[in-house]
Amino acid sequence: GLPDRVTIWEVGPRDGLQNESEVVPVGTKLEFLDRLADAGGTVLEATSFVHPKWVPQLADAEELLAGLVKRPGVSYPVLVPNERGLERALRAGVDHVAIFASATETFARRNLNRSLDEQFAMFEPVVSRARAEGLAVRGYVSMCFGDPWEGAVPREQVVGVGKRLLDMGCDQLSLGDTIGVATPGQVTALLAGFDGVDRLAVHFHDTYGQALANTLAAMRSGVRTIDSSAGGLGGCPYAESATGNLATEDLVWMLDGLGVEHGVDLDKLADTSAWMAERLGRPSPSRVVRALRG
Ligand code: HMG
Ligand code: MG
Repeated sequence: GLPDRVTIWEVGPRDGLQNESEVVPVGTKLEFLDRLADAGGTVLEATSFVHPKWVPQLADAEELLAGLVKRPGVSYPVLVPNERGLERALRAGVDHVAIFASATETFARRNLNRSLDEQFAMFEPVVSRARAEGLAVRGYVSMCFGDPWEGAVPREQVVGVGKRLLDMGCDQLSLGDTIGVATPGQVTALLAGFDGVDRLAVHFHDTYGQALANTLAAMRSGVRTIDSSAGGLGGCPYAESATGNLATEDLVWMLDGLGVEHGVDLDKLADTSAWMAERLGRPSPSRVVRALRG
């Protein structure tokens, strides 16, 4: 069976924009967040408190948070890699953070400048301090199915990293197919490696056109939180060949067809993505946005 209702975790403002080489004005980012809330989004991943040299697009995180008018009932999580990032996020009044671990050695070094093992030492004080401050804490695991440098990633390795993040105190784990190579059977098999799926979310990229099929497989395994990006924006600056995230519109089209509730208004969302595509100067890669607005 399928869940009656899912939560769409919108990553467009963060994962979607982080890879854009031209810096989007903070006013545009704020309008994007407002439009996503108007369209019914309830979890809007807003930005990252990472080193500005690593992700220049999100160097305006403080300014963004200062200008953000938070809506009641909407959560605005932000990425924080380390204690310095958490410090900045706390000062900006954030109440929901996400750390982001790698399932592989190479990507841990490239994305975090840490070895696979060292990353846990970086995250541990972040998670304990965030929890002590009463924040919600998500843990991402990247490269869960394949890694551009290492190839296929052993399932036990992914489960091992994920369990360490849960044991550390993360209240949710998002399993990321950062380069979009997974197929549904692998998704089902990975999810079965955890003790239940209540705290699991999935994060698919559509590189090989499998993101929706993978999402459906995850829902059949009971997963009720799905990451997606408005208009299919995004990639990852430290992951070669990572193309767009699963487009929120494509996800919404499927969920509407299945009768699974989610609370997002497809029309308003497609308008938002068409508006953002204009700002970025290229059409949205989302099939549904193109079908509705192309
Ligand atoms: P590092 O260079 O090893 O940092 O980077 P460090 O701890 O050695 O510190 C060096 C200097 O940076 C220090 O300054 C720190 O204060 C400063 P100095 O004392 O030399 O003047 N610094 C900071 N400044 C501002 N904010 C901070 C911060 N931290 C240190 N937070 C670090 C390590 C983790 C910081 C760096 O590697 C980094 O920022 N990485 C982020 C990369 C990133 O954002 N990648 C994209 C997100 S992951 C993703 O997209 C995948 C996901 O979507 C899931 C999926 O798709 O599968 C989540
Ligand atoms: Mg991503």
